[in-house]
Amino acid sequence: RIVYVNGSYLPEEDAKISIFDRGFLMADGVYEVTSVLDGKLLDFAGHAARLERSLTELDMACPVTMEELLAIHRELLEKNAITDGMVYLQITRGSAGDRDFAFPDPAKVPSSIVLFTQAKPGLADTPAARTGIRVITVPDIRWGRRDIKTVQLLYPSMGKMMAKKAGVDDAWMVEDGFVTEGTSNNAYIVKGNKIITRHLGTEILHGITRAAVLRFAREAQMEVEERSFTVDEAKEADEAFITSASAFVMPVVEIDGATIGAGAPGKVAVRLREIYMDESR
Ligand code: PDD
Repeated sequence: RIVYVNGSYLPEEDAKISIFDRGFLMADGVYEVTSVLDGKLLDFAGHAARLERSLTELDMACPVTMEELLAIHRELLEKNAITDGMVYLQITRGSAGDRDFAFPDPAKVPSSIVLFTQAKPGLADTPAARTGIRVITVPDIRWGRRDIKTVQLLYPSMGKMMAKKAGVDDAWMVEDGFVTEGTSNNAYIVKGNKIITRHLGTEILHGITRAAVLRFAREAQMEVEERSFTVDEAKEADEAFITSASAFVMPVVEIDGATIGAGAPGKVAVRLREIYMDESR
């Protein structure tokens, strides 16, 4: 696989980053995941805009322009002959050559940028979309700026492991009794045809797929309510689903052992997935 590191395209085994890079020492970095279907990047503009916001919030410089970033994405897709899969992009605050809590002077220490691709043949047609996934709930003990897409993914990884150990697919995180989001996706329920998902704020990531799906839902005259919901409300919902760049729209059929609706993908989730797969390509 050919990857991109700080201006160079290299075979992955030749790509190098300093052990003093703050991404490695302090999780001081941000990332984006953009899906690719039939060779086309889904909503690159949305991911680029969120990247710029994450960088601004953390006072971090972007080493390339958004036009260059798009060109790098396309070059990697071509070099690796990716038609279905994703592009991972990470920018970290670089290496001052020592460990120090204070940020280095950006004029002296450039940030590091890394991109790589992952091929996922058949990504659009995953069998899970037909059966739905099962989730457990776990306490949300992440930091308070979840709207910034940082590489601090230890707790979401632990949540995923708790789910695996419980024999299910993923975990929804809960704070003060309300669902925030999934380990790597936004969470939704459907009640009497109304789509309910948590309002934007610092408690959740502002999903690019979420924005697109809510726009498509409103265009299709479906009712949307952006507000918090409890685990109990979710268990009694007619349907549940998640969205993310990698899962698109994915039905949820079980929460903490409680069957949602008929225990099969609900009609709203199925319709939204169809619309999203049609419209975003
Ligand atoms: N995760 N919430 C969290 C905590 C996420 O990590 C993600 C994305 C989302 C959905 O955002 P979007 O629709 O922009 O992908 C919500 C990516 C896919 C990942 O970490 O792999």
